[in-house]
Amino acid sequence: MSQRPPVPSAILAVRKLVDADLDVFFTEPHLLDEPSAWFGHTPFARWIIRAVQPAVFVELGTHAGVSYSAFCMEIKASGLGTQGFAIDTWEGDDQAGRYPESVFENFKEFHAGNFSEFSTLLRSSFDEALPGFADGSIDLLHIDGLHTYEAVSHDFNSWHSKLSDRAVVLFHDIAERKNGFGVWKLWDELKDRYPHFDFAHEHGLGVLAVGGSAPRDVLDLCRLEAPLASKVRERFEQLGDRWRIQSENSRYQAVLKKEIDAGRSEITVDKLRSDQFDARLLAFKNEIASLEQRVADLQARLMS
Ligand SMILES: C[S@@+](CC[C@H](N)C(=O)[O-])C[C@H]1O[C@@H](n2cnc3c(N)ncnc32)[C@H](O)[C@@H]1O
Repeated sequence: MSQRPPVPSAILAVRKLVDADLDVFFTEPHLLDEPSAWFGHTPFARWIIRAVQPAVFVELGTHAGVSYSAFCMEIKASGLGTQGFAIDTWEGDDQAGRYPESVFENFKEFHAGNFSEFSTLLRSSFDEALPGFADGSIDLLHIDGLHTYEAVSHDFNSWHSKLSDRAVVLFHDIAERKNGFGVWKLWDELKDRYPHFDFAHEHGLGVLAVGGSAPRDVLDLCRLEAPLASKVRERFEQLGDRWRIQSENSRYQAVLKKEIDAGRSEITVDKLRSDQFDARLLAFKNEIASLEQRVADLQARLMS
């Protein structure tokens, strides 16, 4: 009789699933109503903060604050004492589009209420902000500005001297090739020079261990081979999809609500018009009735 392989412990799987270390992957990110192509990476943002434990974290390109808030959520939860800096003109660009001042005002208010003890919003161009940072000071840099090859190469090269010997650089949109996006091209050049890991979902995210003494957890991630590496990619995509879909739904619902409200006010105007019409019709009917009565009275008088 052939022996059946032992069935893995069912309760052990449940215990692993509820392990407190995994909580960060299941926590709802901030700002789900805001527009962003970054929700799919928010669980990884929390992991990379834990792995790097940066003394200084800088984001180039913040817009409504979705990615920045995911990093900050973990900085706050872990009590790391990281100093965070979000740099953006908050005017938009040719790919993100130009957006109104309210985008900055809304994020400024949200940021003040949540992260201002350890984080600063620098409203300037990336180049103008450069002199404010000492060489070798940044442990984690997220580059998410304009995504042309020229712009992202300029951002990487100009910030390179600011990176510490532990530094890790994240690049968003490495999998995007439409509309002049060229991060993929820079990524192709850089990944031969440094340990790296990449995700293809949500337009792609590249993780580059630039510093010679990059954190061990990040180097271990970069060393993962198939099939484990594929499984890590798949799991982070599944975790991120939940927030991507939820944010898409929430923005879709906001659009529908606007349309329904517009439809409702149209109905109200139509109803008002129809009430006015009914009132005028009644007035006409009354007038006709009184005229008919007068004609009848006159006829009666003529006959008498
Ligand atoms: C793709 S968006 C950032 C998305 C954001 N990380 C998120 O989580 O959704 C790019 C942002 O970079 C900013 N930007 C682009 N080039 C810039 C530059 N040279 N200096 C400052 N800000 C810039 C734009 O204003 C825009 O808000």
